[in-house]
Amino acid sequence: MEMVMSESMVENTSQVEGRAIPEQTIGDIHVDNPRMTARHVDVFYGDKQAIDNISLDIGVSQVISFIGPSGCGKSTFLRCLNRMNDTIDICQVGGEIKIDEQNIYDPMIDVVSLRARVGMVFQKPNPFPKSIFDNIAYGPRIHGLAASKVELDQIVESSLQRAGLWEEVKDRLDQPGTGLSGGQQQRLCIARAIAVSPEVILMDEPCSALDPIATAKVEELIHELREQYTIVIVTHSMQQAARVSDRTAYFHLGRLVEVGDTKQVFTNPKHELTQDYITGRFG
Ligand SMILES: Nc1ncnc2c1ncn2[C@@H]1O[C@H](COP(=O)(O)OP(=O)(O)O)[C@@H](O)[C@H]1O
Ligand SMILES: [Mg+2]
Repeated sequence: MEMVMSESMVENTSQVEGRAIPEQTIGDIHVDNPRMTARHVDVFYGDKQAIDNISLDIGVSQVISFIGPSGCGKSTFLRCLNRMNDTIDICQVGGEIKIDEQNIYDPMIDVVSLRARVGMVFQKPNPFPKSIFDNIAYGPRIHGLAASKVELDQIVESSLQRAGLWEEVKDRLDQPGTGLSGGQQQRLCIARAIAVSPEVILMDEPCSALDPIATAKVEELIHELREQYTIVIVTHSMQQAARVSDRTAYFHLGRLVEVGDTKQVFTNPKHELTQDYITGRFG
């Protein structure tokens, strides 16, 4: 499936099952109060194009979800937002992405600091092979965010509090993070991202390895965190997108087909491809 889609991308970027993929995104790519702005972003893996001319604003204190069929470029575009694609040798990113008016691809930018400002939570929870405490303290230590042990303790506690995990782990902070349940590990990873005071948190299918109860907890957490952070979530669950996000962006074969308020996209999609996807014709 992934192969077929990859091969067809080069010759056939404009048609899917007889439906035209629009050159221009339908809906308003702008927001009143942007935290990040992406303009004319292209991504290539070698000579294969994975993202084709995407422009999008990501709003302050908003949750935006990226949806679309497997292989359409959601993770690739997400990874552009904190330069995670830099770690893939054959990957080339073009266009412009800014955070608070600063170009994140500027050669002068410190990528480690950028990734603290734009944190990331992965599909599979990936705690460090360290204690619960050290998982959270790691970032604040390398970024010099705590002047004393007391301050570090405070950051660890407040990060775990905000991730809704403190009560569950406060008596075993010295135990390995990998010993927690999957859902707890994912909240630990969210706490780890929060510990360095990010502006944006990127989440790539953060619940796909979790059971429904753990998923509900993470969704609740996203709901609470949106007051303070900008959150971008890739999800293959349309129910999840509908529950947690303010805006929804629908990707198809490397293009951003449609973006709008989540309610509008799900109840009144403007493009037929969006409609086909949300009604389950493919995906
Ligand atoms: N590391 C990589 N190397 C080469 N091609 C890749 C890599 N990652 C993704 N791709 C290709 O880029 C396209 C978009 O993939 P991806 O961003 O993972 O899509 P999604 O997250 O929507 O499933 C696909 O055709 C995929 O095969
Ligand atoms: Mg993906």
